[in-house]
Amino acid sequence: MTKNFEITANFILEKIDYKPEVGIILGSGLGGLATKIENATIIPYSEIPNFPVSTVEGHSGNLILGTFGGKKVAAMQGRFHFYEGYGMDKVTYPVRVMKFLGIKTLIVSNAAGGLNPKYATGDIMLIKDHINHFPINPLIGKNYDQLGPRFPDMSKVYCKDLIKLAKKIAKKEGIKLRKGIYIGSTGPTLETPAEYNLFRKFGADATGMSTVPEAIVAHHMGIKIFGMSVITNGSAPAKPDGETTHDEVQNVAGKVEPKMTIIIKKLLETIE
Ligand code: HPA
Repeated sequence: MTKNFEITANFILEKIDYKPEVGIILGSGLGGLATKIENATIIPYSEIPNFPVSTVEGHSGNLILGTFGGKKVAAMQGRFHFYEGYGMDKVTYPVRVMKFLGIKTLIVSNAAGGLNPKYATGDIMLIKDHINHFPINPLIGKNYDQLGPRFPDMSKVYCKDLIKLAKKIAKKEGIKLRKGIYIGSTGPTLETPAEYNLFRKFGADATGMSTVPEAIVAHHMGIKIFGMSVITNGSAPAKPDGETTHDEVQNVAGKVEPKMTIIIKKLLETIE
């Protein structure tokens, strides 16, 4: 049942002579970190057996292996979104493969709309919890019993220790961080003002079109998760009449990306 994951992981492992321990998923406009990876082995998704191919502008579609912050990493420059038409098995396929690569910690990033009225465009939010607002759960279907339980507990998805550490690092580096709840839904439409208001009422601080399925699947397999959202646009109730374009999302993410890279680098330098 897990044969395809193994085939893909073995193909990747044959290209390197180490086992990566940290996985990184780089969101929209946040791919810059990948260029800082030392001794990089770059594998386009199109060459990886069983991998879907990314279709969105701004998502490069490379798996980059190498050293970052002194740790061996496998970084995804571009991810697979449900709105692209992939089933949840495809969206989360790379995360399953990461387990077979030997990944113990997964760092996820995304561009998100700010729901919390205190948030400003360009803020970075550490994800402390999420709301799965996708119409389905990626674990629906036969359970991979060898990878994780049928009914995973979800009370501690995002690692508290890593959040604490990131806050400490950010303070030292003079980077302001927020900490909040991310709600993930399908897209590709951005939300109507009424939907932004609803999501705020649900208790979410930021909204986006990714991350939640990946976090669920990683958590199912016991992988430690650290997540960050870059707030690329305000939304109702903070900015009731604000329009949002994909270009704006990319531009803001690109500007904030160096700060996010510093935090991830220092985080990796500090963890065991
Ligand atoms: N909504 C959903 N996804 C997003 C947004 C948003 O406002 N901004 C960036 N990704």
